[in-house]
Amino acid sequence: MNPVWIIAKKRDGEALSDAEIGHFIAGYAAGSIPDYQMSALAMAIYLQGMTTDETASLTDHMLASGARFEWPGSNVPKVDKHSTGGIGDKVSLLLAPMLACCDLHVPMISGRGLGATGGTLDKLDAIPGFRTDLSMEEMQSVTDSVGCVISGATEGLVPADRKLYALRDVTATVPSIPLITGSIMSKKLAEGLDALVLDVKFGSGAFMKTEALARELAESLVNTGKRMGVATTALLTDMNQPLGRMVGNAVEVDETLAALEGNGPDDLMECTLALCAELLVATQRASTLEDAKTKLQQTIHSGAALEKLSEMVAAQGGDLAASRKVAPASDVFAPAAGYIASIDAERLGEAVIAMRGGRQQMGDALDYSTGFEMVVRLGDRVEAGQPVARLFAPQDVAQAGREKLLAAIVLSDEPPPVGPLIVDRIE
Ligand code: URA
Repeated sequence: MNPVWIIAKKRDGEALSDAEIGHFIAGYAAGSIPDYQMSALAMAIYLQGMTTDETASLTDHMLASGARFEWPGSNVPKVDKHSTGGIGDKVSLLLAPMLACCDLHVPMISGRGLGATGGTLDKLDAIPGFRTDLSMEEMQSVTDSVGCVISGATEGLVPADRKLYALRDVTATVPSIPLITGSIMSKKLAEGLDALVLDVKFGSGAFMKTEALARELAESLVNTGKRMGVATTALLTDMNQPLGRMVGNAVEVDETLAALEGNGPDDLMECTLALCAELLVATQRASTLEDAKTKLQQTIHSGAALEKLSEMVAAQGGDLAASRKVAPASDVFAPAAGYIASIDAERLGEAVIAMRGGRQQMGDALDYSTGFEMVVRLGDRVEAGQPVARLFAPQDVAQAGREKLLAAIVLSDEPPPVGPLIVDRIE
């Protein structure tokens, strides 16, 4: 099969066969198809799109480029969640132990933050001693013994995605629904899952800025998951303000612990319970979403989920009881009176980057102690001089963080309309 014919076929808007996609992806992963031909095909896919069959083939062949988890001898269902990323999104830290308390196993492969959205692994790195570089064998062993694990992708998992994602980044082909679907789903399906839930976010702090685009991505992800034999559902959730109050690394771990002690903010709990409930129903651990939520709340009230998180942290070398440094606090005040009309959540992410809590470039070292607490939400009324946020930052970066934070908040004379957090469920 000639790669040039395959590129030309896609360029002209024709659907590729499974064999053609397989030939291309295997050749690219093995190095026999060069970057320039893969770039041309990625651009053709970006411009022409892919059918559901083509997207499933792409995912399948990307998955086949590397190792995948197998779970012989374990009959506990394997489940996971993927979020397209947001500001203050610490759901994974709650969800993994809560599900592990409901007789499910969660072998979660997670990522670091790049750009404005934070990464789960960076938050976990704020815990002294915690290891996010487990081998596949170590991940398997922690999953079997504790019930949940959160670690980074190993070299052997979906190498085609690692290569292709880096190429897409420099060829303006990241925002393509089939390419995003192949990338996300190949990594999640490599975990050997029975059920998957997707949190597809839209809004100022999300990868997908509009609800329509998020819906399109959610439908593509769900269709692909189902075609590959994994029970998959998605929630469309609003990311026009941070999830919970805390944004940063150590402070998000603190908020997670408070939430597992029963003191979580309403929006964080609503999102976490809804995502977890999808997986309990998909694996017949509960008969309805409401029944699932009651069971999940029990894991918090009994203290079992908090205990499970400590177990997971200890199994990964960390010490949850060791103190985590938080930078000196100072208040940020409203410059005028009004209603909180909009929050540019991406700018809030940039505020964390300005305080060294996020990366400007891959490989940048982080200061886990920085971040902020939002003390207002969309629609709240504030008076001039009233605190809108609490900043945690060393003196040399506090001003930069404060300026970005204030620039993100728009005040109005009239109360704005505020929509629901979870706008739809795609199955
Ligand atoms: N996240 C991924 O893992 N892949 C993409 O292509 C986009 C977001």
